[in-house]
Parts: sequence; C-alpha cells; structure tokens
Amino acid sequence: MELHVADHPLIAHKVTVLRDKNTDSPTFRRLVEELVTLLAYEATRDVRVEQVEVTTPVATTTGTHIADPRPIVVPILRAGLGMLDGMVKLLPTAEVGFLGMLRDETTLEAVTYANRLPNDMRGRQCFLIDPMLATGGTLIMAIEYLLELGARDVTAVCLLAAPEGIEAVREAIEGTGASVKIVVAAVDERLNEKGYIVPGLGDAGDRLYG
Ligand code: PRP
Repeated sequence: MELHVADHPLIAHKVTVLRDKNTDSPTFRRLVEELVTLLAYEATRDVRVEQVEVTTPVATTTGTHIADPRPIVVPILRAGLGMLDGMVKLLPTAEVGFLGMLRDETTLEAVTYANRLPNDMRGRQCFLIDPMLATGGTLIMAIEYLLELGARDVTAVCLLAAPEGIEAVREAIEGTGASVKIVVAAVDERLNEKGYIVPGLGDAGDRLYG
C-alpha cells in the first residue's frame, strides 16, 4: 500500500480552518470541495491515459486523453458526498458509484446500508472518497468490496487520517497483491476512546450535513 501525505501550505491552511469548531457549515462545505480538488491532482497522478492525435490551429501533434474504461469515483455516504463535486471537477469523464456505509458508534464496526456501483467494475481504476479515515474499518470494507468486484486498483482520497487506521488498511491489504493508494491532507496524532481522530475536526458528516 502506498501512502501520500499532501505537503502544501494551501492545503495546511484549509485543513486548519476545517478543524476550527467555529467554522460554519457553508464554509466547511466549500473548503472540503476546494481541498478535494487539490488532493485529486495528486490522487490522479497514475490515472490511465492513452495517446491521441490533436490538430491545433497550427499543426498536428500527439496529446493525452484519459483512457477507456473510464475511472470510477465512489463517495462513501454520507460524508464522502461532500467531496464528490470537487473530485469530478478534476475528473469530469469519471463514472460515479455510491456506497452507503455507517460506523456503528458502539462497536466501531462498519455496516453497508446502500450500494449502487457500475455493473462492470472489472479492470477499472477506482477513487474512493471519504473525509475521515479513523479505525480504517470503513475504508477496508469498501476497498475489499471494490477489489472483489474486479476493480484493478483503488486510490482512497481522505482529508484526515489516524495512524491506527492507516496501519489497519496496510495490514489488511498486505499480501493480497492489490494495488491500493491513500492520499490524505494530514495524518493526525491518534484515535480517542470513542474512535474519533485527535485533534481531528469532529464528525465530518455532521459538520457537512447535520
Ligand atoms: C465516518 C467517516 C468514515 C468513517 C470512518 O462516517 O466519514 O466513513 O466514519 O471511521 P472508521 O475509519 O473508524 O471506519 P460515519 O460512520 O460517521 O457516517 P456519515 O458519513 O454518514 O456521518
């Protein structure tokens, strides 16, 4: 598994405003969208491309197009929905699938309650989007599901991650031979006893949609 932690002053600034408990919901939503666009730039570095011929007003040359089959973007509901617009702005030809997942706040186990994915996932590149990677349970279940359906590789784009969650994903993927990458704006200190990321930003779903 490959981990990429974004290291950029603009990203750090936006994350700091997101963390602030006094940031209101409209500002929070706007910042999430802006952050995703910046993270998507890194997350799509290995997007599959093909060479095409393009004729400019001056000459014909060889250019690049995103290859078929189109990549798939999958937001994990609910909070991942807040990242969808920003992601498809950068990847407008992507197909979009949805996974509804909820973390049981007592057991901290992930539960899938909705699933609407493209019919044929075989050989496709997938971008999973979810702001928070806490224990990793949700992301592991989502990644395993996409790989089971035949996805070729999976890149998860998150805003904040706990070291425990990153390690859990690494352990779950290790030895499977699957190609998995995590792109994250910041890795925080730890999880607290309730499974919240510390210092974190609170409950991303509530702050976006609560
Ligand atoms: C949050 C978050 C992740 C999950 C992370 O969603 O958006 O999906 O928890 O936790 P984990 O790494 O410990 O599994 P939540 O379950 O609160 O649902 P919501 O997006 O509907 O608010």
